[in-house]
Amino acid sequence: MTVEFCGLELEHPVINGSGTFDAIAARRAFGDELVERFPFSAFVSKTVTVEPRQGNPPPRLWEVAGGLINSIGLPNKGLAGYLEHDLPELARLPVPLIVNIMGFSGDEVARLVRAFSEREEVSALELNVSCPNVETGLTMGADPGETGRLLAKVRPLTAKPLIVKLTPNATDVPAVARAAEDAGADAVSLINTLRGMALDPRTGCPWLGGITGGVSGPAVRPIALAQVHAVAQAVEIPIVGMGGVQRGADALDLMRAGASLVGVGTESFRDPAAGIRIARELKELLANSAVEDRRGALAGQPGREL
Ligand code: SIN
Repeated sequence: MTVEFCGLELEHPVINGSGTFDAIAARRAFGDELVERFPFSAFVSKTVTVEPRQGNPPPRLWEVAGGLINSIGLPNKGLAGYLEHDLPELARLPVPLIVNIMGFSGDEVARLVRAFSEREEVSALELNVSCPNVETGLTMGADPGETGRLLAKVRPLTAKPLIVKLTPNATDVPAVARAAEDAGADAVSLINTLRGMALDPRTGCPWLGGITGGVSGPAVRPIALAQVHAVAQAVEIPIVGMGGVQRGADALDLMRAGASLVGVGTESFRDPAAGIRIARELKELLANSAVEDRRGALAGQPGREL
């Protein structure tokens, strides 16, 4: 089930969604067994920003039928802290490392791209232009012009693959994807969470400290499928599809809609080993069904590589 993605050879098409699996904490909890049976074929880190961030005030989570609303607000150690503390640990994982980055201006994104471009531990960069929990992130990724200008600025700064994480909270997601492709993105990933809100049933006031948050989980799966399908009609570059994947069948659906890789997010909170199970289920399904990729080649039939 090996798959080639932006020059990386991956063992299977299942990776994690950024910020949904803490590999460092998981190693502490589950020990080296986690490294031997790592759930994903590549690891996408939680978003790194230039400066350290505390994140949004609590409460940060609300459970809804079919998913979660999160308003985490990108807490992280900042670039210097990540390079010193997290990168050495993440570099020990047995799979390629994709670092997710976000800046509050084009200059900040450029600084992050330059810094990670020099690190051989990093296989690719994912540009988060889509976090619904900080204002500027949403603005950059919601507009094709802004997205294109950002890519044009940072593309010349690195030879590493650049994946653009798209927001579903945009009027025309395929247009944003096309702008990213035209300005040199190597791949797009979607969907990030959908903006949502919950009220405290006792007080009627917003439950989340950040007032609104991002909805994820099985409830968003049909939206993810529709958006991946629409983006697949608009771009030639590979797509990482995600949104409510719980089973191999959900992953297969996203691939049929046009995704080359599939991200698992909210399901990992319920079952930290979900990635292993979903990859196994996907392999069984692919052995018995043909998936025609966007260029018309059949994949997944017995004896064929995906
Ligand atoms: C967050 O930390 O608020 C979530 C990150 C994201 O949605 O990009």
